[in-house]
Amino acid sequence: MTQASSSTIAATLVSAPAYVKHEKLIAWVSSIAALTKPAKVVWCDGSQEEYDSLCAQMVASGTMKKLNQDKRPNSFLACSDPSDVARVEDCTFICSASKNDAGPTNNWMEPAEMRTKLSGLFDGCMQGRTLYVVPFSMGPIGSPIAHIGVELSDSPYVAVNMRVMTRMGKAVFDVLGTDGEFVPCVHSVGAPLTAGQKDVTWPCNKTKYIVHYPETREIWSFGSGYGGNALLGKKCFALRIASNMGRDQGWLAEHMLILGVESPEGKKHYVAAAFPSACGKTNFAMLIPPASLNGWKVTTIGDDIAWIKPGADGRLYAINPEAGYFGVAPGTNTLTNYNCMASLSANTIFTNVALTDDGDVWWEGLSKPAPAHLTDWQGQDWTPEIGRDTGRKAAHPNARFTVPATQNPVIDSAWDDPAGVPISAFIFGGRRSTTVPLVTEARNWVEGVYMAATMGSETTAAAVGQQGIVRRDPFAMLPFIGYNMSDYFQHWLNVGKKIAASPAELPKIFCVNWFRTDAEGKFVWPGYSDNMRVLKWMVERVEGKAAGTENIFGTTPKFADLNWDGLEFTQQQFDTITSIDKAAWQAELVLHSELFEKLDYHLPSELKTTKAQLEKRLLA
Ligand code: OXD
Ligand code: MN
Repeated sequence: MTQASSSTIAATLVSAPAYVKHEKLIAWVSSIAALTKPAKVVWCDGSQEEYDSLCAQMVASGTMKKLNQDKRPNSFLACSDPSDVARVEDCTFICSASKNDAGPTNNWMEPAEMRTKLSGLFDGCMQGRTLYVVPFSMGPIGSPIAHIGVELSDSPYVAVNMRVMTRMGKAVFDVLGTDGEFVPCVHSVGAPLTAGQKDVTWPCNKTKYIVHYPETREIWSFGSGYGGNALLGKKCFALRIASNMGRDQGWLAEHMLILGVESPEGKKHYVAAAFPSACGKTNFAMLIPPASLNGWKVTTIGDDIAWIKPGADGRLYAINPEAGYFGVAPGTNTLTNYNCMASLSANTIFTNVALTDDGDVWWEGLSKPAPAHLTDWQGQDWTPEIGRDTGRKAAHPNARFTVPATQNPVIDSAWDDPAGVPISAFIFGGRRSTTVPLVTEARNWVEGVYMAATMGSETTAAAVGQQGIVRRDPFAMLPFIGYNMSDYFQHWLNVGKKIAASPAELPKIFCVNWFRTDAEGKFVWPGYSDNMRVLKWMVERVEGKAAGTENIFGTTPKFADLNWDGLEFTQQQFDTITSIDKAAWQAELVLHSELFEKLDYHLPSELKTTKAQLEKRLLA
């Protein structure tokens, strides 16, 4: 950590460490310091010593608790303000020059108006605090698929989380040199301190703005210290800004996990899968195949975001731009995700989970029965009886862990490969208790884009707002696309056309739904490891080895086409989760029409034609 001197920061140039040679960057840091008026500026070097000392500082200030060293070495618990627990979609803006470029799915404000608003909010907003300069690479340092960002934040919690979630530190300046490109990210919790004012453990502001300027590739975030609102490399850069970069430069920035799947014969494929937030991407990315599917292996490249660029051979190559997992804790246990639990055994930052009396962590679904006594995420006593009587959860439903990817026992050997891995198939899946069958293969790229574009999902606790209602979430990108959704569909169609014109084969596209329920509202499909049965069918389809039957919407397996070794699952249960209810689909297509009406500006005509064909087949 290198400190730049204090009280006259606003007036002078911030003194950068000697290894920072980028004058524009230094001038930008100086200008933000002049605006926000922090007490001091610290340039983060990304070292272990720096991480340890920031954590110790947060333990001393009460922001974090150190967990029992014997049970969970080098691990911490942070509990946020109860008003700052999830992404705030209502306060997230895409401020493109033209409103049409943001499109009807994004909040928009005229950039000059937003700049005026933000300069008011940021003026003096870091008073009494430290401004951390956090340099980071999204993707392996120096990879042709990677890009650099620098986050200026007044939150030490952000600085330590960014060190886990990205390649953060000094080495980034070597790549930047004297004039390399970087995405400037400014973040403040929006809680200046007056002289002598005692700080709270989780400073934040009830006014929140998460703002993106796509043309100038800038991010400004005010008022929240939590997750995707504050760790600006993740949703803001790697999805909203990067989707703009991808459109302009011919590549894809997607809300997708990437996994490697290897057959018993040693043939390996990589697939990328998009699911909305809190629908099991981390679990799917770390899946352990059932023992009965002898010899199949799954390995993880990433659990949340994929950057995918065409290679010289025309194929699509993907990297995980992140270096850690910021996953949902509730529901995670050794049965649902053994590899994840193993990853969390040390060096983990937990946020908004409960604390056990012996200094470890707990969350709903971790173990049964729940411990007899806990301190809940809001610092209150919690017992199973209190939980039952009041409905209060011990952990917040969107409680998270931040853990280095390298701790995952099934990390893929190519996860850090600067060249990326070739993608054989894309999978799209929503959380739907009805209507959508277990798995469908698109007959062609356009049909696959249609399936992804019209995907619906029941909302979860990852975002502020009502939970459990079906909303259209095209490509699982509704909260993350940084430009007009219809132009994004067109971009996908263009990428497909480009591959089709190359010697490379187009990746197959599948649509899955693990979440169909029976008449009692219970999930029918066991999910988790058993998703391997569907994954096996999909990679065998890629290889031209598995049978499939064409129906109204695409190609699906019959009961006999999936491997059932070691699982009691009846034809009747299979029918419950694969049947196509024509009336339900007619209602579903009405919702597709509503979506298309909303997205009418620039909606690709191929998608309208595909819809008309589906409607015709449904009526036949
Ligand atoms: C996430 C999300 O945090 O999608 O990954 O909300
Ligand atoms: Mn996500």
